[in-house]
Amino acid sequence: MSSSTRVARACTVAIVGHVDHGKSTVIGRLLADTGSLPDGKLDAVAAHCRRASQPFEYAYLVDALRDERAQGITIDAARIFFRSAARDYQIIDAPGHVEFVRNMITGAARAAAALLVVDAEDGIQENSRRHAWLLAMLGVRQLAVLVNKMDRVARGEHAFAGRERAIREMLAERGITPACVIPVVARDGDNLARRSETMPWYSGPTLLEALDAFDPEPPATHLPFRMPVQDVYKRDLDGGLRRVLAGTVASGCIAVGDEIVVHPSGKRSRVARIAQFPTTSTEAAAGEAVGLTLEDQLYVQRGALLSRAAEPAPSIAARIRASLFWLSRTPMVKGKTYVVKLGTARVTARVTEIRQLMDTDGAPVERHGDSIGHNQVADCVLDLDAPLACDEADVIGETSRFVVVDDHAIRGGGIVREALGAANDRSTESAASRGAVLWLTGLSGAGKSTLATWLESELLQQGHRVERLDGDTLRHLLPGVGFSRAERDAHIQRVGHLASRLEHHGVIVIAAFISPYAAAREFVRGICDNFIEVYISTPLAECERRDPKGLYSRARRGEIEHFTGIDDPFEPPSRAEIVLDTTGLTVEEAGSAILDYLAQRNGAHDGSSR
Ligand code: ADX
Repeated sequence: MSSSTRVARACTVAIVGHVDHGKSTVIGRLLADTGSLPDGKLDAVAAHCRRASQPFEYAYLVDALRDERAQGITIDAARIFFRSAARDYQIIDAPGHVEFVRNMITGAARAAAALLVVDAEDGIQENSRRHAWLLAMLGVRQLAVLVNKMDRVARGEHAFAGRERAIREMLAERGITPACVIPVVARDGDNLARRSETMPWYSGPTLLEALDAFDPEPPATHLPFRMPVQDVYKRDLDGGLRRVLAGTVASGCIAVGDEIVVHPSGKRSRVARIAQFPTTSTEAAAGEAVGLTLEDQLYVQRGALLSRAAEPAPSIAARIRASLFWLSRTPMVKGKTYVVKLGTARVTARVTEIRQLMDTDGAPVERHGDSIGHNQVADCVLDLDAPLACDEADVIGETSRFVVVDDHAIRGGGIVREALGAANDRSTESAASRGAVLWLTGLSGAGKSTLATWLESELLQQGHRVERLDGDTLRHLLPGVGFSRAERDAHIQRVGHLASRLEHHGVIVIAAFISPYAAAREFVRGICDNFIEVYISTPLAECERRDPKGLYSRARRGEIEHFTGIDDPFEPPSRAEIVLDTTGLTVEEAGSAILDYLAQRNGAHDGSSR
């Protein structure tokens, strides 16, 4: 069996516990007693200890394995493999809270079960409580607790019973019921892979028995289908350029022919093909990485969430009530803007309400101010700047988990408890997106208005504030503007000023004007902050062939004077940000090119990593 298939099938177990309570010893001994160590490893470490006149410790095994691994690859969570007679395991030994939360939330290392190690003598410590919170927050439902170093309390049943009671109470406060609490002496291997002979009073399972009894949590195939779109790329397929939506199925199943819904836009199409490297298949399920091609060429971006039309849809939230665990030493403050990343979506957000605050010891913080401190857990409300497709934690865990990023680093993590407010009752003062002026220039009939209308609806669906200014409409609203150069220049200047004011207030302005003179366009560029000139370069012949308003034929017959392209000039832009000839392009194709450019440009501007 290749190592990759082993990884795929291994049951992932996170091990947590206060420092010095014996995590590494548990792992080392488990590896040794299940025969999972590389040949000669045990002897080599033992020899090393002898040379250094140190007593041998099982924890060194883990260090040795980790060192070897660290030489080759960077690992964010030390993964260690072992196998029981029943199955393969992958243990994640979380090096720190931040890495742990990040890996768990992003799915890099989602654990099906967890082990909490508590020292029999020391009892529950700060980190035991904190880790229990994390497990509860992350939705790890299967837990085994090891009360280690039972030799220090004379392997006594009574001492164990006291610890067990306290541990169960502490976990119950966090809504966790452990599957078992096991007295162990990890150093001696008691009750890990084999039953202890020195604690005959204990009749529960050994650690290995407890692990084997856990549900290896097959990916959530029974839940509704969810797939966060990770990437969209174009491929030459079925005789045309097709968009392939790539991502990993977070839950549920999908098959060719299923109708899917793209969130938050609500667009629908059917699955035409499912690519699963290196082949294609007719269906895919949770945990699998796929590339979906749809029957319609919808414009979909990274960050969208796909669901199946036949199943319950995710919530489209404008606000969320969340359980949030804050990891940074700098407190999270109400009103400040942070980035929330859920699945592949990212949205700026602010805490607007802290309903309850708890310290890591589980005690409610009675009098709290406007911030969530280091290692505190909050029940809070976040206001989002754009609609976010998500699920509530007790419906689908996968699409309820998020991280909070500030200044490019993960500062906290959380789960959506409740999606509040439909996206359309968003207050108008949200949408902190950067303003922009998309200036569409080109001949009459080039496709400017069609594109502008499409762009407007797409950008609105993405949650932006948008204003479309169109030559035809404005000339209706402000009659009396003619087509001489002076009149056209004055008209463009006026519109330019309007666009620049709107842009200033975070609006994305879509301007569609022939604007045939380069100097007038440069004037507008000069008064705007984020001016994007889009030259719709569809050639005259094509515009004349389309002639949607019959104006070209009238101009040819001499019924209209100064008609751009016929008897009036058009000065093509020399430094347009985007040039698009719409001949042979669908509106989606041309529009997507503009939106991709805009997303990239505004994304680069706000500087946050995706
Ligand atoms: S601009 O040159 O001043 O930028 P604008 O985009 O506002 O023009 O308006 C162009 C629209 O006016 C065309 O789409 C067409 O429907 C109409 N139109 C009427 N007469 C003319 C003309 N002589 N030249 C160009 N467009 C004209």
